[in-house]
Amino acid sequence: MRTGSVTRAGPHYGRPMTAIEVRSESESRALRGIKWSRDPADVLPAWVADMDLVPPAFARDAVADLARLGDFGYSRHHTEHLPELFAEWQARHHGWSPDPAEVVVFNDVLHAIAQSIHLLTDPGDGIVLLTPIYPPFLKALDGGFRRLVDVPLDPDGWRLDPERLAAAIDDRTSAILLCSPHNPTGRVFDAEERAAIARVVVEHDLLLISDEVWGDLVHPEARHRPMADLGRDLDGDLGNQLAARTITISAASKTFNLAGLRCAVAHVGSKPLARRLAALPPHALGAVGSPGAAAAGACWTVGHEWLASARSFLTDRRDQLAKRLEDDLPAAGYQLAEATYLAWIDLGPYDVGPEPQEWLLERARVALSPGGDFGPGGAGFVRLNTATSPELLDRILDRMATALAAV
Ligand SMILES: Cc1ncc(COP(=O)(O)O)c(C=O)c1O
Repeated sequence: MRTGSVTRAGPHYGRPMTAIEVRSESESRALRGIKWSRDPADVLPAWVADMDLVPPAFARDAVADLARLGDFGYSRHHTEHLPELFAEWQARHHGWSPDPAEVVVFNDVLHAIAQSIHLLTDPGDGIVLLTPIYPPFLKALDGGFRRLVDVPLDPDGWRLDPERLAAAIDDRTSAILLCSPHNPTGRVFDAEERAAIARVVVEHDLLLISDEVWGDLVHPEARHRPMADLGRDLDGDLGNQLAARTITISAASKTFNLAGLRCAVAHVGSKPLARRLAALPPHALGAVGSPGAAAAGACWTVGHEWLASARSFLTDRRDQLAKRLEDDLPAAGYQLAEATYLAWIDLGPYDVGPEPQEWLLERARVALSPGGDFGPGGAGFVRLNTATSPELLDRILDRMATALAAV
C-alpha cells in the first residue's frame, strides 16, 4: 500500500478494506438519496446510477474525521492533493501517467464538460455524440446552443462505425463528447474504434472531451485505455496529437459510490483549453467541498483492494442478469456489458409501447431508466442498474418476468 506524499502532508486515510457490504432493502429505504426515495415504497428502484453497495469505510472515515473535528472552514488541504493522487491512481490501474500539473479539480463531471464546451466551441457548432448516450450529454448541448452531430452506435454489438463517424463531421463540427466506457451500453471501445476517433479528432482538429468516469469499473475480459494515452497504440505521432486535443474527465464517484459528495477532476491536454481555463476567474471553476475531496483522496490512496472486490461483485451481478434474461425474458435484447453496472435492454419485442419503463413501473413495480431519454433510437429500451444484492436483483427480474410473461 502506498503512503507517499499525502501521508507526509498530513491527512490520514486509514487502512484499506476489501470487504464489500451491500445494503438490504430496509437499509436502503432509510436513506434520503433519490434512488430509494423517489418512488412509493412498493417499488424496487434500478434506475439512477447509484450502487446499493455501502461506500468503503476509508471514504466514510475521511468525511467523519472532518465532521468529528468540525473542520468545515475554508480549506485547500484535501483538494490540492487530488491531482497527484489521481495521477498515481491512473498509473496503477490504467498505465497512464498524466502530469498532475495539468489536472484541474471541478465540482463534478458535467461541470468540466460544460466549461469545456463553453470555452472551446461556439454557439451553432456541431458536437458529436455516440448515441444512445447518458442523457445529460444531450442536455449539455441544448443549454449551450450547440448542434447535435448524431453518430449512432451499431445496435448489433453497439460498435462505432468509423465510416459513419468520419462522414458525420462537417466544417462546423468542433468537438466529440465521448463516454468511454460507454453509458448506457457498457461498451469498452476497442483499438480499432479508438484509432478511428483519434484520426477524426486530429484530421479535423476537434476537441475530444473524454468522460472516463466509468474507467475503473470494467469487467475482466475488457481493458480501459485512456484516450489521452494512446501514444504507444497508434502509428506515428497520432497519439500525441490526440492527447494535445483531449480533456479527460474522471471522478471517484461511480467507482466508490460517492455521487452526492460532488468532486471530479480533469486532465487538460489541450493547451488552448488549459489557457482559457486558467484565465477564468476562480469562482467560475467552483470550489469542491472538503468532504468530497477528502473522500476521493482516500479512495485514490487506499482503494485498490476494495475496487478489486467491487469489480468482481459487479461482474457476478452482470452475469446473473444475463442468465436471468436468457432464461426468463428470452425476447429481451441484451449484449453483455464490458464495463459499468448498467444494462441496456431492448424490450421492443414485448410490444409494451415506446416507454416500457412506464408500463413496468405500473405493472411490475420496478423503476428503470427510460430508453427515450438516451437520444434517438432509445424508444423501447430501458436501462437497468445491476449494482444491488443478488437477492434484490432477482426480485427485480422476477417482477419484470412475471409482468412481461402476461403480455
Ligand atoms: C457518463 C457519466 N458521466 C458523468 C456522470 C455524473 O458523474 P458525477 O455526478 O459524479 O459528476 C455519470 C453518472 O452516472 C455518468 O454516467
